[in-house]
Amino acid sequence: MSEKGSFGFDEFYSQMFGERWPRLKEALLSPKKHVAVLNPHSKFKFLEPPVHMTGISFEHDVKEDFPHPERTEAGYLNYYLMDAASLLPVEALDLTPGEKVVDLCAAPGGKSFLCSLKLKNQGLLVSNDRSAARRARIHRIFEDYIPKTEQKNISITAHDATKWSLYQKSIYDKVLLDAPCSSERHVLEDSKELSLWAPGRTKNIAVTQFAMLASALDIVKNGGTIVYSTCALSRLENDEIIRKLYQKRAGRFELIRREFSFGEPTEFGWQVLPDTTGHGPFYLAIVKRIR
Ligand SMILES: C[S@@+](CC[C@H](N)C(=O)[O-])C[C@H]1O[C@@H](n2cnc3c(N)ncnc32)[C@H](O)[C@@H]1O
Repeated sequence: MSEKGSFGFDEFYSQMFGERWPRLKEALLSPKKHVAVLNPHSKFKFLEPPVHMTGISFEHDVKEDFPHPERTEAGYLNYYLMDAASLLPVEALDLTPGEKVVDLCAAPGGKSFLCSLKLKNQGLLVSNDRSAARRARIHRIFEDYIPKTEQKNISITAHDATKWSLYQKSIYDKVLLDAPCSSERHVLEDSKELSLWAPGRTKNIAVTQFAMLASALDIVKNGGTIVYSTCALSRLENDEIIRKLYQKRAGRFELIRREFSFGEPTEFGWQVLPDTTGHGPFYLAIVKRIR
């Protein structure tokens, strides 16, 4: 199969998702529901009782639409807007204050902000991104959301995640690898992107994603965990990355299986798809290093 553009895209994903694809495509084109995660540093309080999602440990509200975040008298933005599924990888990391954590692909910084709330300025949070423009967004988000005095344990770095293990080994208790991905929702929303789509794209991205995961396995401590996540639909970037880890790094890790209150299990991880949940797409797998 070598069709490109919109037709090829449909063909590729209908082969992958079968009868589910038309519903999934329709849901991908529908407006996104957001979660507003309260910023405790802003001292903001939701006016009406917020809607809580089971299994989310951050103070939050869920709605179709929220006003833009606003600065409170405390000087910080009141909440951070994100897809509900984006909270799951941080829940899956199960952070406790004092741990050493690296967010390998951190920009714009939403998940790093959540990690900082869990670490409570203790231990270490390294927020990394290779792109200078996107690192500027991490700086801005930290400035807007976290007091300087609460940033003493945070550093922002600029490494290539695929090569990180050349410099550091067995350092971190937890690694978040929220990898760059096909992000099909954005492709579908952008006719130019869609016209340029080709099946080779997801295969190429998967090569980089695996290199990042292999690197993550070297930099996490023995006994530590990696959460691998993407907002991709393509299985090549999700379960197939974990299958490749079994093939190439057998005996060095085990999977931790966990259920969440929304979404569905996959062969190796957990997936949130918008046709059934109104959130996502999002995939995560939890890898524990054992050697
Ligand atoms: C899916 S986004 C991360 C979103 C982020 N975790 C958040 O929650 O806001 C992927 C990021 O990976 C970065 N990236 C791409 N290739 C990289 C590499 N080789 N090393 C480090 N970062 C990379 C991109 O610049 C992009 O910001």
